[in-house]
Amino acid sequence: MDTPTRSPRAHQSRASGAAHAPSRWPSAVVFVHWLTVLIVVSVFALVLSREFIEDKSVRQWLLHGHWYAGMTAWLLLFVRIPVRLGAAPPRHGLPRLQQVLSAAGHGLLYLGLLLLPAVGYALACARYGHVDFAGIALPTFIERDRDLAETLEMVHGWAGWTMLGLIGLHALAALMHHHVFKDDVLRAMLPARRRP
Ligand code: HEM
Ligand code: HEM
Repeated sequence: MDTPTRSPRAHQSRASGAAHAPSRWPSAVVFVHWLTVLIVVSVFALVLSREFIEDKSVRQWLLHGHWYAGMTAWLLLFVRIPVRLGAAPPRHGLPRLQQVLSAAGHGLLYLGLLLLPAVGYALACARYGHVDFAGIALPTFIERDRDLAETLEMVHGWAGWTMLGLIGLHALAALMHHHVFKDDVLRAMLPARRRP
């Protein structure tokens, strides 16, 4: 069960008239957020661990795992968007600049979740001529093409590293809210039973 928050920021929010806003994200938003985190971490772990593996069949297994996890993250986005649009966000009473920066950061994360799997899909088509999802062959909209595959690999790689950087900044910001500003931003996104 949730207990009332006691941070100075929470008092400030109440004082600024945000007392009637929910104090945390709805459970559905929290669930989809942390499920996305788990899947996206696997997406990176699967593809990056290939660097350390020599065995061809293991490398292929990891690549396919990367595809499946990436496509799952993509599908989950289409669950996440309506869940998020139907949710009333908590109000933390943050300064305007922080609100703008966080909205911009979240927007870019959504854009990454939308575009990275799409470019990855196109890359897999152009390089291998086929994509499957757990053994089921998916339609290929692009013919096999080595030059296109190289371009797409560059775009997908850069976008992937940029996304990783953004995720790092996003997680750092969340931890700073919790440990430095001592407000409720992170607590509001934690599963209910984990909150003090
Ligand atoms: C959230 C989704 C995704 C993220 C964050 C992501 C990220 C990455 C990253 C960081 C790399 C390594 C780039 C490098 O080595 O410099 C990569 C490679 C790759 N990704 Fe993705 N990816 C995603 C989804 C997908 C999907 C859905 C597919 C295909 C259906 C895909 C296909 C590929 C392919 C073919 C490679 C090249 C691997 C190789 O040949 O070494 N990716 N991806
Ligand atoms: C794969 C990694 C992650 C992705 C893709 C991601 C994505 C997002 C997105 C898109 C939002 C905006 C919610 C919305 O308005 O719909 C959000 C919110 C949030 N995320 Fe993450 N996140 C990731 C990792 C993390 C981590 C590691 C933490 C904590 C250390 C975290 C903490 C939060 C918090 C506290 C919020 C709420 C912010 C607010 O109320 O303004 N996220 N995340």
